[in-house]
This record gives sequence, structure tokens and C-alpha cells, in this order.
Amino acid sequence: MPKVHFKEKTIEVEHGDNLRRALLNSGLPIYNGKAKHLNCHGLGTCGTCCVFLEGDVSPMTRVEKWRLNFPPHKGESGKRLACQVKVLGDVEIEKGEGFWGQTK
Ligand code: FES
Repeated sequence: MPKVHFKEKTIEVEHGDNLRRALLNSGLPIYNGKAKHLNCHGLGTCGTCCVFLEGDVSPMTRVEKWRLNFPPHKGESGKRLACQVKVLGDVEIEKGEGFWGQTK
């Protein structure tokens, strides 16, 4: 089973699990501050589930590419929207600062 490392914790997920859902189900804080309540619930449009990610995951979706290319995101490499990511192997993620988690 793939492992997700986040905030000094490791969870095991099923191959192909949605990253946002896996983190929420494990009680791990994918959102910063009020974004916990003010988010698009996984539609890929708000950008608040942004994480910096390394590991084996699905390719970017069209909506994810679109959302990561306008403010506060700037198309930086390594950024992904957790709600659009399927976990395919071990991954290491970091949440940035700010409402969207947009800065490291
Ligand atoms: S939850 Fe809104 S973009 Fe992921």
C-alpha cells in the first residue's frame, strides 16, 4: 500500500486513492485557517488544497493545470491540488503558508 508522509506523520492509502480525501479521513490538516470551511470541496476550482508534492501520483488534470496558473498560484513546479491527485505510490507532501498554502 502506498504511504503518504505529511507533517511528520505517515498514513497508508489504497492505490489510486484521492489525496484530499485520504488526508481528511485521517484528520490531517490539508487546509489552512478559514480555508477549512471556504473551499470548493474537491472540485478543483478554489486552489486551497494546494500542496508541494514529491512522489508517484496521477498526472495533472485539466482543471488543476488551469487553477494552478492564476493567482495566488503561478504555475510553480511541485505544486499540486490534493483534490485532483490520485496516489499511485509513496508520496511526501508539504503544506505552504497562506490561505491557499501557496508559499513555502
Ligand atoms: S478543494 Fe478546491 S481546489 Fe481542491
